[in-house]
Amino acid sequence: MRTRRIGEVEVSAIGLGGMPMSIEGRPDEERSIRTIHAALDAGITLIDTADAYHVGADEVGHNESLIAQALASYGGDTSGVLVATKGGHLRPGDGSWTKNSSPDYLKQACEASLKRLGVEAIGLYQHHRPDPKVPYADSIGAIRDLLDAGKIRMAGISNANPEQIRQAQEILGGRLVAVQNQFSPAFRSSEPELELCTELGIAFLPWSPLGGISRAGGLGGGFADVAAEHGVSPQRVCVAWHLAKSPVSIPIPGSSRPETIIDSAAGADLELTAEDLALLP
Ligand SMILES: NC(=O)c1ccc[n+]([C@@H]2O[C@H](COP(=O)([O-])OP(=O)(O)OC[C@H]3O[C@@H](n4cnc5c(N)ncnc54)[C@H](OP(=O)(O)O)[C@@H]3O)[C@@H](O)[C@H]2O)c1
Repeated sequence: MRTRRIGEVEVSAIGLGGMPMSIEGRPDEERSIRTIHAALDAGITLIDTADAYHVGADEVGHNESLIAQALASYGGDTSGVLVATKGGHLRPGDGSWTKNSSPDYLKQACEASLKRLGVEAIGLYQHHRPDPKVPYADSIGAIRDLLDAGKIRMAGISNANPEQIRQAQEILGGRLVAVQNQFSPAFRSSEPELELCTELGIAFLPWSPLGGISRAGGLGGGFADVAAEHGVSPQRVCVAWHLAKSPVSIPIPGSSRPETIIDSAAGADLELTAEDLALLP
């Protein structure tokens, strides 16, 4: 598996997105554990999660607990696996996603994630989404405090615009290592953030890199043509397209089945030619 860097940490060039294993439509636990183990077998060393990946109000951190369980039951060495989680989103249990990025709440959420993941320090902690009720500087100040206190090893942000990326980088004293924004063939609005991360050498983790859970199966157009040319799936071509977009891009395709993550992971080894890339929008 090819690797890329998040801060000083080397990770697989493709990560596993944990969300489909914990939100609406999720599979049973046994299949989820098999999916995570298949990702590890394929050489994936980055797993993206969040405390808010759950359905019911009484199961906050469902996905974090699942990942902790899968790592503990894996037969091989997991010491090099970076688990990236997030705080700042909540799911009250009615299907909605709400926000709380007050410094007190973020610190409390981080403590709960530490316990669920069973670690002394979280590998990468990402501020999930700006909360309009809280000044951004206050939220990122809490992330800085968590870094300073050694509760988190690395800091990232998500759903941020270029101004917020620069602001976070300043507040964190140059220690911002990752930005996670929505980016896929279907959703291009984060092109400026991808460019800025490339310029600053900050890892860019495109979320819903295949277009999201409900659209991932429908990747067509140039992706289907290039896929047919190489004899692989359009999703694998899409993962390789993300890697070709920028040296800082690390796509995190979501998966709830061993087959899909094995297929996506192989995207790291798919070399797209200039001709291929010309066919991809
Ligand atoms: N920061 C944020 O605000 C935010 C928001 C949304 C998502 N995320 C993160 O980003 C991750 C990825 O996004 P996502 O899960 O929403 O969407 P996605 O990665 O675009 O699509 C996920 C779906 O793609 C399917 N898939 C994956 N690889 C495939 C392949 N090779 N062939 C065919 N189908 C394939 C999976 O199907 P199966 O389920 O059948 O395996 C899965 O349901 C999430 O898991 C989460 O970690 C972050």
